[in-house]
Amino acid sequence: MSDEVKQRKAEHVQISLAHDISAPQAASWADVRLIHQATPEVNLDEIDFSVEYLGRQLRYPIFISSLTGGHPDVAIINERLGVIAQEYGLAMGVGSQRAALVTPKLANTYSVTRAKAPDAFLIANVGAPQLIEQRGKPAFTADDARAAVKMIGADALAIHLNFLQEAAQPEGDRNARGALEGIRVIAESVGVPVIAKETGAGINYEQARRFARAGVSAIDVGGAGGSSMAAMEAQRAQDRGDHHTGAIGALYRDWGIVTPIAVVEAHAGAPDLPITATGGVRSGLDAARALALGASLVGLGFPFLKAAAESEAAVRDFLDQFLRELGVAMQLTGSGSIAELQRASAIVTGSTQSWLELRGFGEQLRLMAQRGMDER
Ligand SMILES: Cc1cc2nc3c(=O)[nH]c(=O)nc-3n(C[C@H](O)[C@H](O)[C@H](O)COP(=O)(O)O)c2cc1C
Repeated sequence: MSDEVKQRKAEHVQISLAHDISAPQAASWADVRLIHQATPEVNLDEIDFSVEYLGRQLRYPIFISSLTGGHPDVAIINERLGVIAQEYGLAMGVGSQRAALVTPKLANTYSVTRAKAPDAFLIANVGAPQLIEQRGKPAFTADDARAAVKMIGADALAIHLNFLQEAAQPEGDRNARGALEGIRVIAESVGVPVIAKETGAGINYEQARRFARAGVSAIDVGGAGGSSMAAMEAQRAQDRGDHHTGAIGALYRDWGIVTPIAVVEAHAGAPDLPITATGGVRSGLDAARALALGASLVGLGFPFLKAAAESEAAVRDFLDQFLRELGVAMQLTGSGSIAELQRASAIVTGSTQSWLELRGFGEQLRLMAQRGMDER
């Protein structure tokens, strides 16, 4: 089993770098329009990007999403991203730590991140399917979760929700019964804040409410429109000649709640929890849209993976441009800080609007659109 997990970690990275695994719904960001201010009264050189997240002050509202670890070949990705997390003061996650919980000698492929980022806000990672007994495999316990946290000196623990991905894996875990209770138990006992983290299919309003009641401290909506774990598994299955499983992944490549919708729904369902907008955030303008919709952080997976596979310099280059783009959106909306951007007016149009109105969020959309108008 452990070799299988270890091998899968390397395959995920190889496949996502070699094939297009994006979900076709990326265009939904264009449904969110920020309102331009002709005299914004903000100096582009003096923008304050800092945010508070789970009790820590971060320099930027950017999360290097949970990606990898668990195979010697991918340690370099965590190492390079750790260097960047330290340099820019970013929050960063490691990939699922199951491989190292089963095979402790793989721990250094994760802990290299802490070695390179002694001061960064680091997020450990275990999967919700592993919190449940699966066909004879025992469930992870609170001690396992604590071991994952300790392995990287983590400041928080993400519990990833990837039941779509599991369904598209030949060897995937099939049982989802008891996942919420498993999360509740870990949130109560692990000793660091727990983040409920989807991985490409999004979080809706009622799910966000359930998480809040289960005691999680934050939600990463992991919406559709970016990297598709189903597409990634479809490719893996095809490569092995398992066409039936591959067809499941291909069919469900586009499944899920797109990220902008998930941000609005999750924020409404759990208004006291910080929301991370992950899934298809590709530019600083996408990030600005997500923050105006109510997110506290934006998470990026593939863009960091791709750049880190090249070099540290490539990650810096990507990030500097992303921040430049975010800064322009902030200036033009008259937002000198992230808190101001979160109060900037946003118009939600198109199918994103239709969805949210049908789901009963019309009033929120109206309030968002009319922010600041009373100043006139
Ligand atoms: C190669 C790869 C491996 C991933 N592994 C994990 C994982 O182990 N745990 C997790 O929570 N998310 C994992 N993810 C999901 C990412 O954290 C993120 O939610 C997803 O890539 C969507 O963001 P993006 O569209 O910016 O790539 C992985 C993503 C990729 C591309």
